[in-house]
Amino acid sequence: MDLQLTDKRALVLGASSGLGAAIAEGLAREGASVVAAARRVERIEAWRDALPADAAARVTPLRCDLGDPASVDGMLAEVGAVDILVGNAGGPPPGPATAFGREDWAKAFNGMAASLFHIASALAPGMIARGWGRILTIGSSAIEQPVPNLALSNGVRGAIAGWSKTLAGELTPHGVTVNIILPGRIHTDRVDALDAANAERQGKSPAEVAAASVASIPAGRYGAPKEFADVAVFLVSGRASYITGSMVRVDGGMIRSI
Ligand SMILES: NC(=O)c1ccc[n+]([C@@H]2O[C@H](COP(=O)([O-])OP(=O)(O)OC[C@H]3O[C@@H](n4cnc5c(N)ncnc54)[C@H](OP(=O)(O)O)[C@@H]3O)[C@@H](O)[C@H]2O)c1
Repeated sequence: MDLQLTDKRALVLGASSGLGAAIAEGLAREGASVVAAARRVERIEAWRDALPADAAARVTPLRCDLGDPASVDGMLAEVGAVDILVGNAGGPPPGPATAFGREDWAKAFNGMAASLFHIASALAPGMIARGWGRILTIGSSAIEQPVPNLALSNGVRGAIAGWSKTLAGELTPHGVTVNIILPGRIHTDRVDALDAANAERQGKSPAEVAAASVASIPAGRYGAPKEFADVAVFLVSGRASYITGSMVRVDGGMIRSI
């Protein structure tokens, strides 16, 4: 299938590791030009340099700290026209709802949600003018099934879901689709860190926690970043032109609701 990406320019946020890196890599391999943004530019350069030369040449690393408005505006000033925005940010620290106060909520909301909303607002007019665009946000299974002890993530991601659906209603008439992709448990640094934190909290080993987590997934394993990225690349491609306002699960069946 021709994904119709070779004339497209993408901005992928949180692209130095895990899901963001896998999506940025997948887009470059499919022929898109990719601006890959994160704080650790050296990690972007590392995965870029491991790509085949033609794909590597399509990747431009750019430093951006989504928790710093000046850094976000600096990135926007540099990035130019973008057809595809992949919204992604680091997940917040774990903890119960009662553990967090105003400052914690403001920090999590700014880093994960407000920066993304601001970036999308800045890039949407160009997409509308060209009559084509894709805005895909990496959400979490937590939007549909809140995860115990991840109160900040559960709370902020609900706001992102409301924003994304609203934006889809506004932009779809202009040829811009807006969707969310929901990871269940995809094996990245973040999942390892959460397993380690749960292990400490429960007095178990990280391997025991991971085994219990895997046992709750009908597929019987964590997903691979590439399996997740393949779906994301399709959702931002020319071929996914009639999918908008949706949340698409990539979770091996983990979410229990219909
Ligand atoms: N993996 C899963 O199964 C899963 C499940 C549910 C939800 N999620 C969510 O999906 C997102 C990606 O997860 P992941 O597993 O890929 O995590 P990851 O491997 O930890 O990657 C997080 C990415 O976000 C970037 N990032 C973090 N803070 C940033 C900041 N202030 N400014 C710019 N970039 C920042 C990191 O880059 P730098 O540190 O270089 O800036 C990194 O590239 C997270 O929000 C996570 O909570 C993941």
